[in-house]
Formats: sequence, structure tokens, C-alpha cells
Amino acid sequence: MDSIHIWGGVALQGEVCIQGSKNATLPILAATLLTGECSYIKNCPRISDVYAMASLLRSLGCTVIWQENGLLVDSSSVKRGEMCSEAVRGMRSSLCLLGAMLGRCSEVVMEHPGGCVIGSRPIDLHIAALEQMGVEFREEAGMLKASADRLHGAEITLPKPSVGATENIILAGVMAEGDTILEGAALEPEIAALCRYLEHCGACIEGIGSSRLVIRGGRTLYGTDFEVPADRIVAGTYLLACIGTGGSIFLERAPGDELEAVIKLAERMGGKLYFSEEGIYVQGPDRPKSVERIETATYPGFPTDLQSVALAVETMGEGDTIIEEKIFENRFRIVEELRKMGACIEQLEETRVLVRGVPALHGAETEAKELRGGAALAVAGLMAQGKTCVSGCLYIYRGYENICRDLRELGARIISV
Ligand code: EPZ
Repeated sequence: MDSIHIWGGVALQGEVCIQGSKNATLPILAATLLTGECSYIKNCPRISDVYAMASLLRSLGCTVIWQENGLLVDSSSVKRGEMCSEAVRGMRSSLCLLGAMLGRCSEVVMEHPGGCVIGSRPIDLHIAALEQMGVEFREEAGMLKASADRLHGAEITLPKPSVGATENIILAGVMAEGDTILEGAALEPEIAALCRYLEHCGACIEGIGSSRLVIRGGRTLYGTDFEVPADRIVAGTYLLACIGTGGSIFLERAPGDELEAVIKLAERMGGKLYFSEEGIYVQGPDRPKSVERIETATYPGFPTDLQSVALAVETMGEGDTIIEEKIFENRFRIVEELRKMGACIEQLEETRVLVRGVPALHGAETEAKELRGGAALAVAGLMAQGKTCVSGCLYIYRGYENICRDLRELGARIISV
């Protein structure tokens, strides 16, 4: 079941409920390690990245059980000693375990999280910040060893608002001796969700939602129940797919307040959007308008994780669009795949492309090379005339619970094979 087949050229119609947020679930699951008790995390998406995190927590001695649409995590059985020398395999997919594990024990051994298709994914900001909190790092045979005899608070300034580094500082800070003042924190909503979970556990964090956080250390944290918010990137994917296919859909639970930049872009593309407590209603144009320039930015700017989807939609725009990727250095692997479908895209620089809109795309055999590029190929397949096959869909299943189920609920002719 590694491919998706799509018979496109059909306007999306219908309604779909948006899954829980992958990028909120992962750090919150890591944070359950800090309580030494039982937490029930509701609305966890059933995606491979969450399965991987659950396996990592079990390997550290946690009991992790699916219960209805959530995960019951009991970290009481985890002994400090058991975790200290544990080499955490597969850590690269869950770097946020680093901060959580340091908050719970004095030494962590992990694979050095390397880069991936979209970029080198360095961790220098994580290391520099945690060193200020008393963590020592050593590299041995490709493994990264982090040790902290005494994790203490610090005054930290992040030179760039790294989501993962902000999460690791928070996870270590709530367990550190003394307070941590973080300037330059990332503003992504997933950070606020993590902070709200930790507050439910008894932590004290001031400035939630702002770039200056004061993380009070040294408090005992208790297990709690918590509901993960809806996934803004999944909602944005389907929202833009509706713009690309000229459909009319309802996105139940879509977090409109976290999608401002995406909503603005969709409206500039000719979409009409209406908002209610329950979600977002989207009416797409007959043909997407070409927005002169789209550039990605840290939150609340246009999210890098939806850049490929916006690119796919603009391939059928009425004119030309310049798209600039300003977060990751290699997020245009999808261009060669879209060209197979008839898209007219010129790579101006490594991080900038010129899209000349064409009146139609045609189906083709395409290959997903990473998560969000794969989702964008599915969107292009919905827009194209004829049949599109997208292989490499295991990437898509890392972040989308069931993209075929969701898109079928919106009237798409799509199957996974
Ligand atoms: C998180 O990745 C998300 N992943 C990414 O989503 C998302 O694209 C990214 O934030 C930006 O919003 C999760 O939450 C699991 P960063 P993260 O640290 O934390 C550079 C998806 O598809 N940087 O904010 O790794 C880095 O190279 C994924 O769901 C350093 O230079 O992102 C990048 O250019 C993809 N040094 C920029 O900062 C560091 O130590 C943003 O990275 C860390 C990062």
C-alpha cells in the first residue's frame, strides 16, 4: 500500500473532520515522560510518526496503550537508571525526546539526528541552549551523548525561532533547578499546545504564545488528560486542494485562528471562505488566481509545510507566481514531479521558483520524496485531467492519518494500492 491512484479533474465537494495535530502530539507525548504518572492524550492522529514515538516511549519503559482516539501513557515504571544509558534508536524522528529525557535523568544517548530530504536539519541551536542549562554533549561513534549532573535554568536567546529547539528548552526548563528565560521562542501553535499540556501537569510557564517565555523550574509534574488540537497543516492542505479544484467543502474542526496566512492566500487565489465555531467553509474559484509572490516564514507567516501544496495549486494559476522557500534549503524536490504533469516551473535559485500557470495538468506517474511534497502531489492529482499515480506514499502516512479516506469524503476518486 505504498501508492495512491487518483482520477482527477473533479471539484471537491463535501465535508471532512480534521485529525489531531502531528506536530503538537509528538512533543506532548515526549512531555509525558516528565510526570512519572499516567496521562491520557486525546485526539492523537494514527500516523507513523506517532507510532514511532509510542515505540520510543515503550523502549524507555513507559506503558503506552491506544484507547479510543487517544494514547494512555504511563511513565511511572520508567526508572532513572533505565533511561540514563539507553541509546534511543530512531531518535532522529523525535528530537524532542532529548529535552524530556534530560529533564528526567542525567544522561541521554541518541543517534545523531542527521538531515533529511528537505534540509540538513542541524541541531546547533538545541545544543547551544541546553549547554547553557548545564548539559554537556559528546559525540562518540556517530552517537550523541548528553549529560547533565545538574540541569539548571538559564537566560537563553534563540538567534532564530526554531520550533524544536524551543520545545527542548521548555521540556528541560520545567524540570531544571531555577527559572529559564527564553527570548526568541518560536510562535508556532504547537508550542502553546505543549505549554498548555505542561500547565495541566502543574508546570508554570509565563508568556505562552509570545516570543518571551519564563519557564519556572523545579515543580513536580502530575499526569493529566489533555486533548491535542486539530492539525493546521492537514486543514490547510485540504483548504488549498479545494481552491485548486474549484470545489466547495466544509473543514470540520479546522483551526481558523491558526491559519491566518493560509486563509489570506486562499482568498487572494480567488477562494471565498466562511467561518463558524465548527470549522471553515471553502468555495474555490473556477481557476486559481496567480498570486504574484508567495514566501514562507516562521509563524504567523505562511507555513513552509504548505509551500509545496501552494506550488501545486499555482501550477494552474491564471498567470505567474514566484515562490520563495525561506525556512528549509531543499523543499522544491516536487518540481520535477509536477513537470511530469505538465506544470511549467522554472527554478530561479535553490530556494526560489517561477511558476507559469497552465490551463490544465495531466495525470502522470509521480513519486513522493517527503511528507508534504507527497501530499502536494496528491493535490496536483486531484486537479489534473486523467489518472495520477503517486508512489512513495509511506512518506504521506507519516503525517496524514488517512489522506485517501479524507479526500474520498470530499468526493475525490482516489484509492491507495
Ligand atoms: C518543525 O521542525 C516541524 N516538525 C516541521 O514540520 C516544520 O516544517 C518546522 O518546525 C518549521 O515550522 C515538527 O514539529 C515535528 P525548526 P523543526 O527547528 O523543529 C534551522 C512536517 O512536515 N535550525 O523550526 O526541525 C533549520 O535548519 C515537518 O510536519 C538550525 O539552523 O524546525 C530550519 O532551517 C517538516 N539549527 C529552521 O531552523 C537548529 O538547531 C527551522 O527549523 C534547529 C533548526
